[in-house]
Amino acid sequence: MRPGDLLSHKQAGRPIAVLTAWDALSAALVEEAGAEVILVGDSLAMVVLGHATTLPVSLEEMILHTQAVGRGLRRPPASQPLVVTDLPFLSYQCGLDDAVAAAGQVLKATPAAAVKLEGGEPETVAVVDRLVRSGIPVMGHLGLTPQSVHRLGYRRQANDPISQERLRRAALDLEAAGCFSLVLEHVPAELAGSLRRELTIPVIGIGAGDDCDGQVRVTADLLGLTERQPPFCPPLLNGRQLSITALRGWVEGVGQAKPPALTPPAGPGHPAPPTTPAAPAAPHC
Ligand code: KIV
Repeated sequence: MRPGDLLSHKQAGRPIAVLTAWDALSAALVEEAGAEVILVGDSLAMVVLGHATTLPVSLEEMILHTQAVGRGLRRPPASQPLVVTDLPFLSYQCGLDDAVAAAGQVLKATPAAAVKLEGGEPETVAVVDRLVRSGIPVMGHLGLTPQSVHRLGYRRQANDPISQERLRRAALDLEAAGCFSLVLEHVPAELAGSLRRELTIPVIGIGAGDDCDGQVRVTADLLGLTERQPPFCPPLLNGRQLSITALRGWVEGVGQAKPPALTPPAGPGHPAPPTTPAAPAAPHC
């Protein structure tokens, strides 16, 4: 999948599923689930690095996590999902040359074929224009933009006609500057729907209603692995509690002569459970 293919999805009315991944394990799950796009989102700062906001994650960390995501992909390159990496806070706000250097480093050192950045102020639109002219595909991101948490909070954005018109103009400017798609986070559904119709590029929503060309979710939120999920991202299962319960069962069984609580999975890398007791594995040292 290439960035330009998303446009054909929109034109053909095929919905675009985007999921985040942060390492080889999560990438393999998301690829096997069939997502068209893997976003190595800077939400990993909070989800897997334990920070309180997305601001502390560095470009080097985003590169390291994107490399791990690439190692988790199993399909032949031509049929792999598109990998998009978030440019972290302050990697693109300090000048056009620095932004090209940061985004270029991501594309040189990782399997990402595009970057995502937040905001639609004239300075950000100029960055998009410069990146696109340098051959770097860019996904935009408007609405709730977590890198601006200290200015905007985590509230729903664009709630009144003036801020809706401001967001609409920013979306049109980002499209004109060459963004190949646009994430809209936590904005009114009617606004997302009208932008989906007005823009040529695909609108990918999160907390923006169903009338979008695609949806993006933080995978750890969907799996219920995070302690709390945003109100617009209800979990599909209680992965955290299921995991804790299973692990607690194992921990409590250590040292006790009782059969394992769970049947191990069969499949590639996981041989079917033995019907007769296996010989002890050779020690590693
Ligand atoms: O960082 C991230 O995971 C994101 C998504 C929420 C769109 O930007």
